[in-house]
Amino acid sequence: NKHCLIMAGGSGTRFWPRSRKANPKQFLTIFGNESLIQATISRFANFIPDESIYVVSNKGQKEILEQQTSRLPKENLIYEPVGKNTLPAIGLAALFIAKNDPDGIMIVSPADHLTQNDQLFQETIESAAKIAEEKNGIVTIGITPNAPATGYGYIEIGNEIKIGQTIKSFAVNRFVEKPNLATAQSYVDSGKFFWNAGIFVFKVSVFLEAVQKYAPNLYADLQKIAETIGTANYGQVLDKIYNQVDSISIDYGIMEKADNVFLVQGDFVWNDLGSWEEVYKYDPQKDENQNAHVGEVIFQDTKNSYVYAPGSLVAVVGMDDVIVVKDGDTILVCKRDQAEEIKGVVGEITKRK
Ligand code: GDD
Ligand code: MG
Repeated sequence: NKHCLIMAGGSGTRFWPRSRKANPKQFLTIFGNESLIQATISRFANFIPDESIYVVSNKGQKEILEQQTSRLPKENLIYEPVGKNTLPAIGLAALFIAKNDPDGIMIVSPADHLTQNDQLFQETIESAAKIAEEKNGIVTIGITPNAPATGYGYIEIGNEIKIGQTIKSFAVNRFVEKPNLATAQSYVDSGKFFWNAGIFVFKVSVFLEAVQKYAPNLYADLQKIAETIGTANYGQVLDKIYNQVDSISIDYGIMEKADNVFLVQGDFVWNDLGSWEEVYKYDPQKDENQNAHVGEVIFQDTKNSYVYAPGSLVAVVGMDDVIVVKDGDTILVCKRDQAEEIKGVVGEITKRK
């Protein structure tokens, strides 16, 4: 059986001021009328029943998560006591899935991306599931890079593989998480690398074997937690153990080390909305001056700009390439090409508190 696990524990500093600790990016409604996590659930619900869709998130986000995922069974919402990045989070959720279906397929996805072309997305994921099943592999989805972005994992492909799947697929030579700019540029120039879309497909058993091999301490801790699932001790044991595990992403912890990795080419439109700049680029509703907006906005003598201000009236006059975001009493104005630098603002605010 196929199970989908949505990872929803990040805090998204590049999205300030709309994403503060209590309201991270995955809960924001940026396009249309669903938040990013709701759009993610809908995308998978096209081919996976709600009962097989799980979310792993932070305890602190329980209330908003329950509100936004009311269609899912409550027992499919799995909470970490503290954030320890994606490897422990996936490991914890895998224990629950393994309990009922140890040889089931897990499709692990970020909560805060957008894609277009649901049909192709489904075919791509189903191809990945087929490869995961037949090769006992860890399958990634590869996006053709269009820039030497340093915020992504890069995947070097080897031979093409054909086992009756519909979408182009390859064995993987290596996985490199977030290389520096010069390295990323050389990867893009080589034509042999894809971006990692952040989606992973594997049998639960194959994943747990990889954890045992490459993160043995975490594996031992997970075993102790597994024994208490369904008992009165679960909460207490989870708190104690989880607080002590090392914080590490699946990319550094498993993907860079594993040797049974495959890649299925993702030709659907994909955007990880990593910053307001990405939101601007993705927004399909730009006017004739390439401006886009949410809220009531007057653009005068202005091009290539983005305003996010639901419920407010904003005017921008005589400026090009700017981003304006209004959230409550907080306003951000920045140059589009410096949208990533908002991290610095968040750091400064944290210092002043
Ligand atoms: N439950 C839980 N707990 N979820 C988490 C945690 C955590 O501690 N940390 C992060 N997440 C969630 C985020 O909310 C997001 O949905 C997903 O896991 C990925 O985490 P990010 O922090 O956004 O990772 P990234 O964007 O830096 O890098 C990953 O995604 C890229 C594509 O967007 C990597 O997989 C890269 O290789 C990949 O290219
Ligand atoms: Mg991300």
